[in-house]
Amino acid sequence: MVVDTVAINRRSNAFAGEESLWLFGYGSLLYKADFPFLECRPARIRGWVRRFWQGSHDHRGSPEAPGRVATLIRAPESVCTGMAYRITPDVLEPLDVREKNGYLRFTTELAFTDGGTAEGLVYIATEDNAAFLGEAPMQEMARHVARSRGPSGPNRDYLLGVARVLRELGADDPHVFGLEAAMLAWESGSGDPVSGAGETSA
Ligand code: SIN
Repeated sequence: MVVDTVAINRRSNAFAGEESLWLFGYGSLLYKADFPFLECRPARIRGWVRRFWQGSHDHRGSPEAPGRVATLIRAPESVCTGMAYRITPDVLEPLDVREKNGYLRFTTELAFTDGGTAEGLVYIATEDNAAFLGEAPMQEMARHVARSRGPSGPNRDYLLGVARVLRELGADDPHVFGLEAAMLAWESGSGDPVSGAGETSA
């Protein structure tokens, strides 16, 4: 069932009445912070891992051929590194539209890399949303990202953008870096960087 996340997010009253609030970004919000913010600080959230398991019908693919983008999956022992932005509440309205393909706002605790904590929001596309694709073998996901594109551009640019910022933040994210390596190997024609077996496109 397709759910109107914009309407659900708009009804959420977390941080209602606050002058500003923290928003944690881990996907496109890492490399495309084209919204006004008061400050940004590298941060981590506990209990979640970043996975390219969400379909993108609107930004990096189409309804007929969705791309593959990041969401967060519950993993109690894990920590996800990203960027926290302090924004005014009005900024959520356009962000709800940007994140409309399955992402709902959740409240979570952010731990800033330079110390301190705060409650904040994070957009998560949970496994029950209509666009969720789920897990697939790394090579398959890499080829999927390599061939997809949508109104916001090639899907590969999303993956490269996330990987670049994570590198700048000094974050260890084997899923993202493994997917990036597999995609670049596929694009260069060298195939599977793990087995070295090589693959040719159909
Ligand atoms: C985020 O970046 O925090 C949410 C998912 C996305 O826009 O890619």
